[in-house]
Formats: sequence, structure tokens, C-alpha cells
Amino acid sequence: MRKIGVLGASALALAAAACTQQPQAMTQAQLVERGSYLVNNIGGCNDCHTPMTPQGPDMQHALQGADLVIQLRPGIDVPWAATAPQIAGGPAGYTDEQFVSFLQNGERPDGTRPRPPMPAFRFNEEDSRAVVAYIKTVPRAQN
Ligand code: HEC
Repeated sequence: MRKIGVLGASALALAAAACTQQPQAMTQAQLVERGSYLVNNIGGCNDCHTPMTPQGPDMQHALQGADLVIQLRPGIDVPWAATAPQIAGGPAGYTDEQFVSFLQNGERPDGTRPRPPMPAFRFNEEDSRAVVAYIKTVPRAQN
């Protein structure tokens, strides 16, 4: 009996140690910082959703929507969008959860998908949450 008690106690101690070694959940500031990295360094969102200038995207109007300047067109007749909508502050008509889900499966809340050249991103859930947290901090166009 005594021995089982000791073993049980060590198992508990081990479990407790394992718990304290779990990585801490990201703080909101860390989430936003990761989202900024994913949007600005990886996802290329500004290449389409931000007005383009000869010097690059006009970051004074980051993610506020733009006419596409990409000249490359598919050689076959496929649907193709000419403008990228404003997504600063979050795309219009999406809840946060719907935006998180869109970044994981490419489906709008109504089940449709944006036309090319919008890439069909497949972010994992944590990265999707980071992108949403960051984009919500980007100011919408004043109008
Ligand atoms: C190569 C250009 C391109 C890139 C890069 C791009 N987008 Fe898009 N995006 C578009 C276009 C064009 C549309 C509109 C498609 C349409 O009208 O059917 C769109 C649509 C969207 C929509 C749907 C908005 C709505 O009204 O339903 C969201 C959300 C979105 N983009 C987010 C992003 C995010 C976040 C990134 C970066 C991680 C990104 N996009 C990168 C071109 C792009």
C-alpha cells in the first residue's frame, strides 16, 4: 500500500512537471506580432490588397483595397478578379471566427471562394488567429 502511494505521488509530480514545461499560450501582443510577420513578410497580402506605387505597396493605405497591377494573366479563360477588396480591420461581413476559418479553407462565410489571383491559403489555426489579430489592428480607409 505504502509503495503504491509513493509511486502515485511520483507520477503526480512528473505530471505536474510536464504541465509546467508546456509552452505558454501567446499573449495578444505576440499574436499580433506573428500576424504582422505572416501578412507582411510571408503572405504577400500587400502586393494585391494595398495600392501599388513604383516604389512598392503604399503602406499609408495598407490593406485598404486596390486595383490589381499584376499584368500576368492565365493563358486559358478562367475567372479572374481585377480588384482586391479592403481587408484592413477585417473583411466586410466576416466575424473573427469566419475570417479564421476562411484563412484555413479558403471559403467565404457564404461558401463561395474568391477568384484568382487570390491565393487559396491553408494557414493552420494558430497562424490564422495571428493573421486575424494583426489585420484587425490595421486601420480601415477613412471615407
Ligand atoms: C495575388 C494577389 C493577392 C494576394 C497575394 C492576396 N490576395 Fe486576398 N484577394 C485578392 C483578390 C483579387 C480578391 C478578390 C477576389 C474576387 O473578387 O473574387 C481577394 C479576396 C480576399 C478576401 C475575400 C474578401 C471578401 O470580400 O470576401 C480575403 C479575406 C482576402 N483576400 C485576404 C487576403 C489575405 C489575408 C492575404 C495575405 C495572407 C491575401 N488576401 C493575399 C488578391 C490577393
